Amino acid sequence: MRVHIFEYGVIRVDPWKLLKLTLEKTRMQNAWRLHESINLIASENVMSPLALKAYLSDFMDRYAEGKPFKRYYQGAKYIDELEVATAEFIASMVRAVGVELRPTSGTLANAAVFRVLAEPGDKATIAPVQAGAHVSHTKFGTLGALGIKQVDLPYDEENMNVDVDGAVKIIEEVKPKFVVLGGSVYLFPHPVRELADAAHSVGAKLVYDAAHVFGLIVGGAWRNPLEHGADVMTASTHKTFPGPQGGLIAFTDKDLYKKVSKTIFPWFVSNHHLHRIPATAVTAVEMALKGREYAETIVRNAKTLAEELAALGFKVIGEHLGYTRSHQVLVDVRDLGRGAKAAKLLEEANIIVNKNLLPWDPPEAVKDPSGLRLGVQEMTRFGMGRDEMKQIAELIARVLIKKEEPEKVRKDVIEFRKNYVKVRYTVEGDLDTMLDLLQ
Ligand SMILES: Cc1ncc(COP(=O)(O)O)c(C=O)c1O
Repeated sequence: MRVHIFEYGVIRVDPWKLLKLTLEKTRMQNAWRLHESINLIASENVMSPLALKAYLSDFMDRYAEGKPFKRYYQGAKYIDELEVATAEFIASMVRAVGVELRPTSGTLANAAVFRVLAEPGDKATIAPVQAGAHVSHTKFGTLGALGIKQVDLPYDEENMNVDVDGAVKIIEEVKPKFVVLGGSVYLFPHPVRELADAAHSVGAKLVYDAAHVFGLIVGGAWRNPLEHGADVMTASTHKTFPGPQGGLIAFTDKDLYKKVSKTIFPWFVSNHHLHRIPATAVTAVEMALKGREYAETIVRNAKTLAEELAALGFKVIGEHLGYTRSHQVLVDVRDLGRGAKAAKLLEEANIIVNKNLLPWDPPEAVKDPSGLRLGVQEMTRFGMGRDEMKQIAELIARVLIKKEEPEKVRKDVIEFRKNYVKVRYTVEGDLDTMLDLLQ
């Protein structure tokens, strides 16, 4: 077959070479990250085979701009029905008056809510970065892009959380349009009730970003902010909630629900990647049936991992508070080559983590912070429990404390992982229970 070689600047580009590279790297990625590594990235998870099946459908190739049953395109009757049913199901799980599934990511969910609640020039108070704020809550991210001014709430070092008294004072002084709680790096629940009361007393709304803990919330292992005064909750659908990559918004305030719904299209998404919806529906059903057990095991595993790491000599953050109540564990690796080097060494051993700022790090330290963030939700989904957390802690210690060659540890990681390749907490083989519960 004749092969066309394209010219790209001075580079000659061979299409067959790209195709070969694509297939090869995809195969390698699947083997590496699904079968040969210990994945501890706290923002990731895997879908069940059934959700994956639902994901790979014709919906993936279609458009459905606008709201269900009011689309700008024909051919949307099935997605209309499915989107409404899935939103209602998830709304009932979190006691919301409405759920929006159209934001294609957590960041876009935040953008839609922030934009409706404030005009450019208005103020928002946010949990400080030390208490886990995500970049989208800040002037460097979505908040800044929308022209909304960021006012940080104070941090309480002892409780590793937002300082409630100081925060109430600032909310009363600043009178923001909204207050943001929830975050990316947090071990303990933020004080929703106290700050919701303060926000409401000055006419502000409380936005809770549950991107990380949404699965723990629906599984009952983390306080549901909507039952503690939050007006709206944004989330990713792919972290502790193990669905397809995407976002959602859940509301307790019907007016806000209507206002935000009007803006998602056309302000933030055109098409909303329809194949996410059936996969999210399958995941929601799985979480309704198995979420409690899954979420409780995640939190127990995170605590065990923290304790085991500490017993092996690591400086694990939050000992005086019981280390963690989420899926995350934070480790101070300042004495072990700092975050960047430690994360790289672990990657060479097929243990995948991310370097992370710790509460005392200045923002400039982002490229080489003092910590590592470890999340256990994905390994839990593959059936790991306390014993496995102990083994993971030992593998990490061999690389970072005993300074063994990562290649040597990698062999043992690959061997270890062989027993944990099946996704658990799913409904396969459990259809009878599912049908009973769904009646
Ligand atoms: C608290 C928080 N909010 C929002 C996001 C953004 O979510 P997404 O990656 O779905 O845009 C993240 C991502 O990790 C996050 O941690």
